Amino acid sequence: MTRLICVSSGKGGTGKTTTTSNLGAALTHFGSDTIVLDANLTNPNLGFHLGIPLYPKTLHDVLKGDAHITEAMYIHNSGLRVVPAGLSIEDLVDTSPDNLSDVLLDTVGEPDFVLVDSAAGLGNESINAIEASDEVLVVTNPNLPAVTDALKTVNIAEEAGTDVLGVVLNRVNGHESELDAEEVESMLGYQVIMDVPEHNKVQEALSVKKPVVHHEPDHHVSERFKAVAAEVANIEYEPDLREKGFFAKFMEKFK
Ligand SMILES: Nc1ncnc2c1ncn2[C@@H]1O[C@H](COP(=O)(O)OP(=O)(O)OP(=O)(O)O)[C@@H](O)[C@H]1O
Ligand SMILES: [Mg+2]
Repeated sequence: MTRLICVSSGKGGTGKTTTTSNLGAALTHFGSDTIVLDANLTNPNLGFHLGIPLYPKTLHDVLKGDAHITEAMYIHNSGLRVVPAGLSIEDLVDTSPDNLSDVLLDTVGEPDFVLVDSAAGLGNESINAIEASDEVLVVTNPNLPAVTDALKTVNIAEEAGTDVLGVVLNRVNGHESELDAEEVESMLGYQVIMDVPEHNKVQEALSVKKPVVHHEPDHHVSERFKAVAAEVANIEYEPDLREKGFFAKFMEKFK
């Protein structure tokens, strides 16, 4: 059965697109047939995260009724399928997120997962994405403003009858001032599936238009995204979360 999962946060810049692309990459790595879809209609950038070139048909065309979803689906060389959104201002004319639910229903049946990368804020665009999905994965950061916005996302999901899968606590620096996983869990009422550190490897991966799971598959940050995928897909997986120093990496080359 296809599972429609919305990646949402309320606050901008928490790492929704990073989580969507890496979760998509990791689910594909585990053998799950996965589609990622850019439902951030005003500021789409999932295509950049995955190195998808400019494309003639996008989700905007599908929402306008000018294309079928299969025409706007690009196959990444990893096997992950990607539905990007249009980048031009004209794409926004006559595009309504209200049709998203019907578009998503058109994907049901075939893939194991459809991951919906949501817009920031709690406007029509993101509420529609939550309502159109079966489950929500909340991405937040370890500070009060981000978690407060995440709580609004949780409330919207609960009102919409969309299950909350859990929380990815992203961009953790380990500062004393940060909220820890337990505090975030008690504020949101849902389990933190994994905390992901703030790490320059994530930025480096974006600069070469790859999810970090593809850029450096064995890196501990990649392992954390794989652990999230394993939890989501109910796969047994023991991630190697050790931070590997120069010596460990050097020795690995001789394994
Ligand atoms: N764990 C991390 N470590 C370092 N940088 C990160 C991490 N997660 C995300 N980033 C960076 O933060 C920026 C914002 O991430 P991303 O685009 O995934 O957020 P978003 O929630 O999708 O933003 P928006 O609300 O604008 O859609 C990007 O430059 C990304 O590379
Ligand atoms: Mg985004």
